[in-house]
Amino acid sequence: MPDTTNDVNPFREGLSSRPLPAPCAVIIFGATGDLTHRKLVPALYNLAAEGALPPAVSVVGFARREKTDEVFREELEEAARKFSRQKINDELWSSFASSVFYHRSEFDNLEGYEALSKRLDELDAQRGTRGNRLFYLSAGPDQFPVILENLRKSGLNESKEGSWSRVIVEKPFGTDLPTAQILNNLVDEAFSEGDTYRIDHYLGKETAQNIMVLRFANAIFEHLWNAKYIHHVQITASEPLGVEGRAGYYDKSGALRDMVQNHLLQLLCLTAMEPPSGLDADSIRDEKVKVLKSLRPITGDNVRKYVVRSQYGAGAINGKRVAAYRDEQNVNPESVTETYVALQVNIDNWRWAGVPFFVRVGKRLPKAGTEIAIHFKGAPPVLFNAEGETIDDNVLVIRIQPDEGISLRMSAKMPGSSLRIEPVKMDFHYGTSFTKATPEAYERLLLDAMSGDATLFARRDEVEEAWKFVDALHEAWAQNDEDLTFYSAGTWGPTEADELLKRSGATWRRL
Ligand code: BG6
Repeated sequence: MPDTTNDVNPFREGLSSRPLPAPCAVIIFGATGDLTHRKLVPALYNLAAEGALPPAVSVVGFARREKTDEVFREELEEAARKFSRQKINDELWSSFASSVFYHRSEFDNLEGYEALSKRLDELDAQRGTRGNRLFYLSAGPDQFPVILENLRKSGLNESKEGSWSRVIVEKPFGTDLPTAQILNNLVDEAFSEGDTYRIDHYLGKETAQNIMVLRFANAIFEHLWNAKYIHHVQITASEPLGVEGRAGYYDKSGALRDMVQNHLLQLLCLTAMEPPSGLDADSIRDEKVKVLKSLRPITGDNVRKYVVRSQYGAGAINGKRVAAYRDEQNVNPESVTETYVALQVNIDNWRWAGVPFFVRVGKRLPKAGTEIAIHFKGAPPVLFNAEGETIDDNVLVIRIQPDEGISLRMSAKMPGSSLRIEPVKMDFHYGTSFTKATPEAYERLLLDAMSGDATLFARRDEVEEAWKFVDALHEAWAQNDEDLTFYSAGTWGPTEADELLKRSGATWRRL
């Protein structure tokens, strides 16, 4: 088999210092879908353009529709020109496109997988992919079981001597604990845990990765990172977008399953976890699981007290009228699906006893922004605030997106002869401090999976513990949907969410 790892690669000019992953074939199930067009192929192109991939990497799209390699490449090119982070360079694209192939088959047709196996062997011989396979399950989740079964039956899951076979599983990873367990068992029958990569694209975001660096590479923070100094934490993910043609999925899912069970609990874990014993995947994931296991379950009547669920009504976003959720295409006109959730999470461990973590997520909110805000306890009422004057508390904000960065709010004396204290900000922006574009989450995650690094992927027990916590809320909601509230599109959610914080003497930050 020819070894092309060190061939001259037009993509390699000026490039990354990270070692290249081994040559491999990336097989995408659901290759004609939205994710492939918007995220996966642009990510692979950008990696190739930055020289982060060996030239032998091949991309094989597996889907049901009849199509030639050429047509598939043309469709991907059109999408990449629209969605790629970097402008498409014609020469680089044509080199990249020559490594892209299309394989037509039904997902439930074993022969299609056997034919794929042959085709991959041929690509190994022609392109030097060395028998390494990365299967990406990006088809509808109802197809995952049959794909996994056929990968197993065709032997594609097995790695040959000196090569590897891995699987990336897209979200949603189940819809509750039992379905996640069933899916985990199916994955487990075909791939070892070490070869399984469960995607949570928030973990691939540059700023999410920076949470650990901020906490454990800066000695000053760890001393303050606990119940003694922190009053509460706010984690917000706000989107002006509505369901955007995904109602079929979203109306069954809702914000709690769509965002909280995975992305927001992951951010919470990174914020709350203990320092890991090492930077390897399992040491980090062990610590995240401990946080999930320490979440105080919210059950029964407490669900009403600690969780606010809400749905958007008609309103305006950026001055443009938008429809109510129930009037969106393919949404049940009586839907009780939540498009907004706010909840108070308590972590019952020594570090966080008594510190509420407030988590909120919503669609059709006024502004896009994801951030973690650490609100420190206030100064004692002596000296500058002895007479009841208010001094704003210190807040450390980790901006996950957009305008990635970190800021610290402090109090300062306003210039002048009178003593006037005002809040000021110390601000770090990725964009200006590192004059380097931030890579897309999928670039990092694909590269890590090719390199065999599972640190930024969820482990089986993490996914299951997160479902355990979230299932209890769904159970309570299923008993009673009277607590569903409504907010107008373009507002910051229902007033009940403000009440939730008020009880702890806090207010939501304005993004
Ligand atoms: C996805 C959700 O996982 O994350 C979407 O299914 C949501 O509903 C999206 O819009 C948000 O991701 P990002 O990267 O745009 O914050």
